[in-house]
Amino acid sequence: MNQIVRIGWKGLSLYAEQIIEIENSSFPSPWSINAFKEEMKKSISHLWALIRDKKILGYICFWMFDTEIQIINLAVHPENRRQKLGQSMLKRMIEAGSSNGLQSIWLEVRPSNVPAKNLYTKFGFHEAGRRKRYYNDTNEDAIIMMLKLSAQERDKQHLGPFSKS
Ligand SMILES: CC(C)(COP(=O)(O)OP(=O)(O)OC[C@H]1O[C@@H](n2cnc3c(N)ncnc32)[C@H](O)[C@@H]1OP(=O)(O)O)[C@@H](O)C(=O)NCCC(=O)NCCS
Repeated sequence: MNQIVRIGWKGLSLYAEQIIEIENSSFPSPWSINAFKEEMKKSISHLWALIRDKKILGYICFWMFDTEIQIINLAVHPENRRQKLGQSMLKRMIEAGSSNGLQSIWLEVRPSNVPAKNLYTKFGFHEAGRRKRYYNDTNEDAIIMMLKLSAQERDKQHLGPFSKS
């Protein structure tokens, strides 16, 4: 059974190897475990993982501040792609953002990253701008994508601020 769980300090140590394996096989400039640790020090930063049988199949890392979410990392293990796992993590995060009264979700994506662009478009994200030569490993621009969370969804249920405890 798949579970989406919040990863804290203990989880990060426990699952470090698996996270780094996914990270290294997903990005041209992967984060180190120290980069994940630095993120975890920030109160606005959240790391959720999709776990099946004690194995991490993917994760999403995002900042939540003021009325926004900024997605800063999302990856699924190459062996588990195209199984709707990326979409289920994204969906859960969007639902949480709506329930917590947030207004928008932002992210940057490489123009060449068709799987990710399709995933975000499927959820209604649209291009909100470009950052020129944002990725210094390939000199690619970044597409800034944004999803406005609907007021109707936000008002349905207010669960209070996210807790990291
Ligand atoms: C992007 C990523 C997270 C998608 O995860 P995933 O679990 O394989 O995606 P899902 O199975 O949930 O797919 C959901 C939708 O995304 C799109 N999509 C996913 N993979 C795709 C591919 N290879 N080609 C085209 N569209 C794709 C489709 O619209 C798909 O919907 P559909 O199944 O109804 O066609 C995954 O490819 C990945 O880890 N890539 C490397 C890291 C990365 O690029 N992260 C994003 C940084 S911005």
